[in-house]
Amino acid sequence: MNTDILIIGGGIIGLACAVELKLRGENVTVLCRNFTEAAGHAAAGMLAPDAENIAHEAMLTLSKRSLYLYPEWVGKLEELTGLNTGYWPCGIVAPVSQKPSNHSQSPGYWLDKATIEQYQQGLGSDIVGGWWYAENGQVNNQALIQVLRSAAESLGIEFQDGVNVEAILQQQSQIMGVQTNKGLFHAGHYILAAGAWSNQLLPLPVRPCKGQMLRLRVPGIVQEIPLTRVLYGENVYIVPRKDGSIIVGATVEEVGFTPNNTAAGIQNLLNHCTRLYPSLADYSLEEMWWGFRPATPDELPILGESYCQNLTMATGHYRNGVLLAPVTAKLLADLIVSQKPDPLLSHFHYSRFEHSPVPNIPFTHSANFTDSKANNSYLKFPEFNQIDSELKIGHKVFHSRLMTGTGKYRSMGEMQASINASGCQIVTVAVRRVQTNAPGHEGLAESLDWGKIWMLPNTAGCQTAQEAIRVARLGREMAKLLGQEDNNFVKLEVIPDPKYLLPDPIGTLEAAEQLVKEGFAVLPYINADPILAKRLEEVGCATVMPLAAPIGSGQGLKTSANIQIIIENSKIPVVVDAGIGSPSEAAQAMELGADALLINSAIALAQNAPAMAYAMKLATAAGRMAYLSGRMPIKEYASASSPTTGTITSL
Ligand code: GLY
Repeated sequence: MNTDILIIGGGIIGLACAVELKLRGENVTVLCRNFTEAAGHAAAGMLAPDAENIAHEAMLTLSKRSLYLYPEWVGKLEELTGLNTGYWPCGIVAPVSQKPSNHSQSPGYWLDKATIEQYQQGLGSDIVGGWWYAENGQVNNQALIQVLRSAAESLGIEFQDGVNVEAILQQQSQIMGVQTNKGLFHAGHYILAAGAWSNQLLPLPVRPCKGQMLRLRVPGIVQEIPLTRVLYGENVYIVPRKDGSIIVGATVEEVGFTPNNTAAGIQNLLNHCTRLYPSLADYSLEEMWWGFRPATPDELPILGESYCQNLTMATGHYRNGVLLAPVTAKLLADLIVSQKPDPLLSHFHYSRFEHSPVPNIPFTHSANFTDSKANNSYLKFPEFNQIDSELKIGHKVFHSRLMTGTGKYRSMGEMQASINASGCQIVTVAVRRVQTNAPGHEGLAESLDWGKIWMLPNTAGCQTAQEAIRVARLGREMAKLLGQEDNNFVKLEVIPDPKYLLPDPIGTLEAAEQLVKEGFAVLPYINADPILAKRLEEVGCATVMPLAAPIGSGQGLKTSANIQIIIENSKIPVVVDAGIGSPSEAAQAMELGADALLINSAIALAQNAPAMAYAMKLATAAGRMAYLSGRMPIKEYASASSPTTGTITSL
């Protein structure tokens, strides 16, 4: 069939664009794979640029513009359909359990303990105050998406559900049509709004990020709803609707398209929401569901023009699809119909990912992929990669040379996103902290996908060899319980001194010897001492892990001379651990010839932890590649880049 504009994706973004384009006189068709699976249904409908703590300047501008468009936008839709969207600028209260040190940076208004109780009675006892975001609010997203669909129908937009786009046909930077299970579709212009499924159609770094949600209901006949504002907690949000139902969300899980609610996911939500607002414990549990956010590496959407003249991108809205729907529709209609690209769009251009090799992007379905730039950036990378061999530790082989940890993150979601962005295959976990459910470690063991990530249990907190041996055994059991039957790894830390956190060389050697005898693959954390490293190799350790600088100091490579000697003499992998603070230092350690790095604090404490994780991934790979390539010799004097031999001289 033929249409002016074909929108691939019938979720909130696809529908918002369809309605806006139709209102501007275009003939629009929407192809939808499965209307009920769109992330817009699964969301809670918060309109929360401040509560979501959006720090990226252009993203904040985009979000605020969308927030300010909301009243008029929903008004127009409600008028068109006679239906209600449940738009409610109710404000958001964000209670906290620890007083922030600095109030001046926040866009919110600080409420102390007594004042927050006036905004919302009955908060958990550990709440010490919170932020009030007067401009933020909510819309009933489930209602909104139905309203959008009705509006589309009433405007005469062709909406086809159950149409699976199998291939996008391209020739010389033009989309020629899309092949679907219902035949070929042609249009003058195409919009990709396929959310978490975008990467199945085009090589874009959009991945699914699962969120589980649930709905509670105030018991009995409701005269007055006890919650009238969104509560945005540290680990959970509670969104009260006017009909007495209460939406609780959401987990942030990097599990691909794994469907269903899980006991751990729901338990996590219930624990956190009843802690934040204890009366919820008596509310009835009405419904549970899940959805897949379309996440990008920098968590910003991909908007605007593409490498095909007649294809516009509208995907990757991650946590903010409901909020960004009106502005996305407006800016893209300005671009497509009026050819007026808003300068803001430049920040969300797909090409920002073009030069960062994302090796996992499958080339599914894009059989006619003719764009030479995109081919260069993605396809050639694996060839370079083949220069390198794999990292072998004990009986296991790894492709990534960056290991990370789980400590110091501000939230579980941030940790999951960072671990994912780092591309690491090994994550170290403090056995003691998990076993004792230390703050920040509740539910930690269940929050990572141990089917994909190899657990490296560590003995952090152990002051003697005997303690470390005992905790290593517990770690092996923990890995087994989490499904890694054959995991015999232990990161051995024996640290008697809590101030400088320096490892005890004698205790470490003693514990290593015993653990090797018990069949462990021992990865000992040591000071950068070449003699100790050799002794540990001789007793059968799987690696040595010398420190670059004190743990958590971010001081960089302070021990490079000793690390170099360890590398020169070692027959087992040398993993530089602790002290690396920036990607340049990570690259430097790899350039020295380290086999791998373990980086935690420098990622977790970065302002944008997932972006820093990604930077560390690139730096580790760059340093490794540089080491394998052999750097040029350093010369005392300048030497011209262009040779002088063979030059034409004047006659
Ligand atoms: N917008 C909130 C979430 O994605 O969980």
